[in-house]
Amino acid sequence: MPDGGTLMVETSRENLNSQQVASFERANPGTFVRLSILDTGHGMSPDIQKRIFEPFFTTKPIGRGTGLGLSTAFADITHMSGGLEVESEVGKGTAFHIYLPIEAARQSTP
Ligand SMILES: Nc1ncnc2c1ncn2[C@@H]1O[C@H](COP(=O)(O)OP(=O)(O)OP(=O)(O)O)[C@@H](O)[C@H]1O
Ligand SMILES: [Mg+2]
Repeated sequence: MPDGGTLMVETSRENLNSQQVASFERANPGTFVRLSILDTGHGMSPDIQKRIFEPFFTTKPIGRGTGLGLSTAFADITHMSGGLEVESEVGKGTAFHIYLPIEAARQSTP
């Protein structure tokens, strides 16, 4: 959000069926913790959205971004049998939703 804005973090508990986890690479249906990060930044065009999880894909100027942020997040979340979703509209903002199986979330609580 280069010109400022609102950043929100939300959590919820979600039951997902097999259809709802179909787009996640290795998640099983069940109960998930959902962590959402919502911003009112510049958003992304559909063409950019398609590529954001590619390693080294960045729209930042040379020397500013590695393009590894989201590909790393995607790999880590997939490894935990979770899922990562994005919703975005140019000029309006972006929402990322992280889904983690509730059992994995419980195991990482000290
Ligand atoms: N919240 C967001 N709003 C708009 N565009 C975003 C958002 N998050 C990511 N993007 C787009 O996705 C691209 C890839 O993001 P990613 O985090 O992988 O790399 P980066 O942010 O460019 O680099 P780094 O994470 O190393 O700073 C960004 O360059 C940007 O175009
Ligand atoms: Mg980043």
